[in-house]
Amino acid sequence: MKVLSVVGARPNFMKVAPIIRAMERHSHPFESVLVHTGQHYDARMSDSFFADLRMPEPDFNLEVGSGSHAAQTAAVMTRIEPVLQEVAPDLVLVVGDVNSTLAATITAKKLHLRVAHVEAGLRSFDMAMPEEINRLCTDVIADDLFTTDRMADENLRREGVAEGRIHFVGNVMIDSLMASLPAARRLNQADAFGLARRGYAVLTLHRPSNVDDPALLEQIMGAILDGVTELPIVFPAHPRTADKLKSLARLSGPGAERLRIVEPMGYLEFQSLVSDAGLVLTDSGGLQEETTVLRVPCVTLRENTERPITVEQGTNILAGVSRDGILRGIEAALATDPGAARIPELWDGRTAERIVQTIAGWRN
Ligand code: UD1
Repeated sequence: MKVLSVVGARPNFMKVAPIIRAMERHSHPFESVLVHTGQHYDARMSDSFFADLRMPEPDFNLEVGSGSHAAQTAAVMTRIEPVLQEVAPDLVLVVGDVNSTLAATITAKKLHLRVAHVEAGLRSFDMAMPEEINRLCTDVIADDLFTTDRMADENLRREGVAEGRIHFVGNVMIDSLMASLPAARRLNQADAFGLARRGYAVLTLHRPSNVDDPALLEQIMGAILDGVTELPIVFPAHPRTADKLKSLARLSGPGAERLRIVEPMGYLEFQSLVSDAGLVLTDSGGLQEETTVLRVPCVTLRENTERPITVEQGTNILAGVSRDGILRGIEAALATDPGAARIPELWDGRTAERIVQTIAGWRN
């Protein structure tokens, strides 16, 4: 059985890596073809993840690069079409909710190829998020939908998806996290930064809705610096964000000396830094899940989340982006006992095996 997997952007790599490994380990080996769309291309956003996750070199790199949503989506579609025709896979595997996910799905389905979507059914119900549009459109046309939690199953059912298309398998990103933790811990990034275990915060921000408007970014950074008064804050800045930070007045104000803005980090370095942090502040999707499993308090700097299970069961607090919301969120996060959080069902490091076992059952 020939399976073509598609990756494009940073959060895709850790979802596909364990699936490729599980396909290799399976008693009836699969023929695995890996396509990198090139949506992310900087060494720090892409190559270093391939190395850290011990992923095979992509068989095809479409080198689409950056662009408007339409330009980027169209470039993936145009460039992946001949690859899909040449490879003629039995299954196309897409993950997550980035532009590459949607573009590959549309193109494959129009070539009458079977498509499976890993991390299906997540919904923020916020149509201003490009990812929500990608998630909805992908799930409508993909054939097989692998879900991370039962709330996602419910979302899909409500949208009229037939039961037979839904496969609850757990969270494959946690497979990568669990497999990588021993190596990550050996890197001891807290020590490398001269910080005490649990004695610092980690911040990430990259959502266009948070970083593209300088006034809002100023407000968010101000609230963080006023709320996190005791801890140094390490901030690996996404390229989209890095430029915007330079012009912020608040970064020369009180408390700014505790902020350490650094380049985007590799996967292992970052997991090391996060696993020893006392607090995480983020607008990332994946980090809400990783902090839940690592039992690190997490303040999510968004008005909504497509991952509500991390709030209900995990360490996540949805703070919004108002000054008051952020201040309250930080206070609550620092006061809670992260040890009391629960690990969601099937976030056990064996999701890739379940996915591959299910796919193996489709052989004809
Ligand atoms: C994309 C995903 C988002 C995901 C994020 C993770 C979509 C719609 N968005 O957002 O869901 O959470 O990746 O990082 O697919 N850039 C570089 N180097 C790179 C890549 C990007 O400098 O390797 C810069 C470019 O200026 C680019 C900007 O970052 O224009 C945005 O990149 P893009 O891929 O369009 O979206 P992300 O914000 O990274």
